[in-house]
Amino acid sequence: KQGSMGKKYLICMPHLPILGSLPYMNFHDPAHVYFTKLKEKYGNTFAFWMGPQYSVVVNHFSAAKEVLLKKGKDFASRPRMVTTDILSGSGKGIAFSEYGPQWRMYRKLVQSSFSLLKDGSQKLEKLICQEANTLCKSLAAAQGKIQDPATDIFLASSNVICQFCFSSSWNKDDEDFEIMMDYNSLVDIFPWIQARAIGPCPALFPNKDLALLKDSVTLRNELLKKKLEIQKEKFNIDSVNNLLDALLKAKLDSDNPLVQEPEITDEHILMTVGDIFGAGVETTSTVVRWCIAFLLHHPQVGLPNCSNMHLSLSPNPYPPNTGEDNSKCLKAHGSAVCSSPISTYLIVPIPPISQGIGEYTIPKGTRIYINLWSIHHDPTQWNEPERFMPERFLDKNKDQLIIPNASYFPFGSGPRVCVGEFLARSELFLFLAWILQRFDLEVPDDGELPSLDGLSGVVFQIIPFKLKVKLRKGWREAELSA
Ligand code: HEM
Repeated sequence: KQGSMGKKYLICMPHLPILGSLPYMNFHDPAHVYFTKLKEKYGNTFAFWMGPQYSVVVNHFSAAKEVLLKKGKDFASRPRMVTTDILSGSGKGIAFSEYGPQWRMYRKLVQSSFSLLKDGSQKLEKLICQEANTLCKSLAAAQGKIQDPATDIFLASSNVICQFCFSSSWNKDDEDFEIMMDYNSLVDIFPWIQARAIGPCPALFPNKDLALLKDSVTLRNELLKKKLEIQKEKFNIDSVNNLLDALLKAKLDSDNPLVQEPEITDEHILMTVGDIFGAGVETTSTVVRWCIAFLLHHPQVGLPNCSNMHLSLSPNPYPPNTGEDNSKCLKAHGSAVCSSPISTYLIVPIPPISQGIGEYTIPKGTRIYINLWSIHHDPTQWNEPERFMPERFLDKNKDQLIIPNASYFPFGSGPRVCVGEFLARSELFLFLAWILQRFDLEVPDDGELPSLDGLSGVVFQIIPFKLKVKLRKGWREAELSA
C-alpha cells in the first residue's frame, strides 16, 4: 500500500485496535507453519499486528539475507519483551542485548573462550566424546527395553556446555540438573507465553505462566551464582580454563582505569553464561532427537555406504574423530543426516531506526519474524522439501558436505549469527555417530513410530517418543571379550 509521503508499506493482515491481528490468527498450527501458509494469501513478506506491535514476517531467503546480512547492522537489535527482560536481567548477556559495545564485548569473550577448547589435539572433540560415551552407556543399560532417550540426550548436551562454562558436569539425579531441565522447557515456550499475554501488556492481563517463568529464572540464577562463587574461589589468572574464568579475568582487566571497556558486573557474567545454556542445550539436544526420530522412519539411511564402512562397525572408542581422510565419508554422511532437521527457528531482528526491505518501508522498532522453516522448505528452492533426504547435503561423490543452495542458513547470518555453530555441529555429528555405531535403533514392539508433527517453541520441539536400542554385533562381541 502507498502511505502518505510516498512511502510504500507491506500488505498487512486485518487488525483491530489494541488486539491487532491476534483475533484473526490461528494458534493451532505452530507459528512457523502458520506463517508459511499465510504466504499464499499475503505474499512472501507481509505485515501483521501482534497486539499493538507492528510486525513483519519474512518467508523468503532473499529478503531474509537483506535483513540479516546486507543490512545486518541496521537490523541488529533484538526485541525487548517482558519475558526476555526476565531472562536476561533487562537486556544483559548476548542473545537479548542491544547491538552495541556491550553485546560485542561479551560475544567476543565467548568466541575467544572456544579457543580454550582447541588446546592440544582437539580437546573439544574429546570432551564431546566423553559425554557421548556416558550417553551410550546409559542407553545400553536399558538395552532391549522401551525407553525415551530425551533425558539422557539432554544431560549429555548440558554437560558439554557445563564443561565449557565451568569445567564440571552433572549426574542425572543432581538437583541442579533438574533445575536446568525445568528452566529450559519453560524458556522454550516463552514467546507463546508472551503472545497469550497480549503483546507487551501482561500487567493488564496477569498470567500464571509468567509467574512460573520468573520462579524458574530465579532458581537458574541462584544455581549460576553458586557456580560463580565456587569459580571465584578457585580463580587463578594464570590458568584460564573455561568461560567463567575468561569472564572473571575480563572483569579484573576492566578494573584497570586505563582500559575503557563496557561494564562487567557479576550480573552481566551470570546472564552471559545463562545465555550459553539457554541457546546451547535445548537446540542441540532437540536436533539429536529429531535425527533419531527421522532415522526410525528411514532405517535405510542410518550408516554411510562408503569405503570405510568398517570404521562404523569397529569397537574403537573414538572412531569418528575428524581430521583423518579415511573418515571423511563417514563425517560427511553423519553431518548430512544432522543437517536435515536443523531447520526451524524464528529470528526476530528489529531496526532501531526506520529502514527498508526492498522497496518497502519498515518503521523503527518493527519486529521482523524471519521464518527459517519456511526458507528451508521453500518449494521454489528445494526438491521435495518435506522429505528427509540427507543426500541433498552431499556432493556428487557423496563424500563432501555441501550447502545445497542459498536458501539454507540454520545458524542465522550476519553480525548475530550463532556463536555456537562449530560446537553444535561437532556435538550433533559425534553424538549421532556414537549412537549409530553402537546401536541398531528400533521402534517399540507396538510398532509406533515417533510423531513428526512437532510442537511450537523457540526450537521446534519433537513430541516425546519411545524406542528400543540393541547393541550391534561388533560391539556386543567387544563387550563380551572385554
Ligand atoms: C544465536 C541457531 C546451538 C549460542 C543463534 C541464531 C540461530 C541459532 C539461528 C541467530 C539468532 C539471531 O540472529 O537472533 C542454533 C542452532 C543450534 C545452536 C540451530 C544447534 C543445533 C548453539 C550453541 C550455542 C549457541 C551450542 C552455545 C554454545 C548462541 C548465542 C546466540 C545464538 C549466544 C546469540 C548471538 C547474538 O545474539 O549475537 N543460534 N544455535 N547456539 N546462538 Fe545458536
